[in-house]
Amino acid sequence: MSLLEVDRVVVQFGGVTAVDEACFSAEAGRVTGLIGPNGAGKTTCFNVISGLQKPTHGAVRFDGRPVTTTPVHRRSKRGMGRTFQRLEAFGSLTVRDNVRVAFDIHRGVTGLVRSGAADVDALLERVGIAAYAGERADSIPTGTARLLELARCLAADPRLLLLDEPSSGLDESETDAFGELLAGLAAEGRGILMVEHDMDLVMGVCDVIHVLDFGRVIASGAPADIRSDRRVQEAYLGYSDVEEQPVDLTREIPAVPAHLEEPVR
Ligand SMILES: Nc1ncnc2c1ncn2[C@@H]1O[C@H](COP(=O)(O)OP(=O)(O)OP(=O)(O)O)[C@@H](O)[C@H]1O
Ligand SMILES: [Mg+2]
Repeated sequence: MSLLEVDRVVVQFGGVTAVDEACFSAEAGRVTGLIGPNGAGKTTCFNVISGLQKPTHGAVRFDGRPVTTTPVHRRSKRGMGRTFQRLEAFGSLTVRDNVRVAFDIHRGVTGLVRSGAADVDALLERVGIAAYAGERADSIPTGTARLLELARCLAADPRLLLLDEPSSGLDESETDAFGELLAGLAAEGRGILMVEHDMDLVMGVCDVIHVLDFGRVIASGAPADIRSDRRVQEAYLGYSDVEEQPVDLTREIPAVPAHLEEPVR
């Protein structure tokens, strides 16, 4: 049984089908990638999984139990954590206080008593942003703010992490460190489902990848299989190693340049 199961989920916004019978899963102890072109429906899937978006059809199961209509805070209490593509930290608080608030919210939700400062600083250290602890959240670089989002998410000790484009804004060495952090979190038994456009990171760290295109899962598999999948290459990676290219019948026929038109008599 998978930690997370997305079962034939459909999301329609008026006439737009953002997610179209999507089926995929994420396992505990594994990093799972969810990739696809802009507008493919990745964030909408995250919204359905985390409870911000009611699906038009379909079901979500977490740890074997249906959560399709479970409120966000209950999913969080059961162990689902999420970061946002658009950053959600409190700008006027310091980095440390942002994480402290996340700990306090978790304590309020679960009734757990935690030791506080030492936990907060350990978490900042773990995600690699201890040097920014005293800075206001609205003054730190975007990549650091994404790591702050992750720290806030980890404060709730989630069993499943949903990470929406977590590495954007990180430089190459920060991205490498981030990949190691993800592997370490998975090694603790957490499941990670990550939407990410950095293909080196995705191919390097994910155990399994699902590819969305126009709301549908067009491929699922190990990184090597995904990299060599022709549909994925055409839909997303922007190239095909197939020599014979089919004629694209949907292509617009260019207008005849004015100087080649028949002169008007
Ligand atoms: N609230 C909404 N109302 C109407 N249409 C929406 C809404 N949210 C998303 N969409 C549309 O649904 C489709 C999927 O959007 P979504 O944000 O899930 O894509 P995405 O894969 O996360 O893209 P990106 O890589 O750019 O973040 C797009 O066509 C988008 O315009
Ligand atoms: Mg998105």
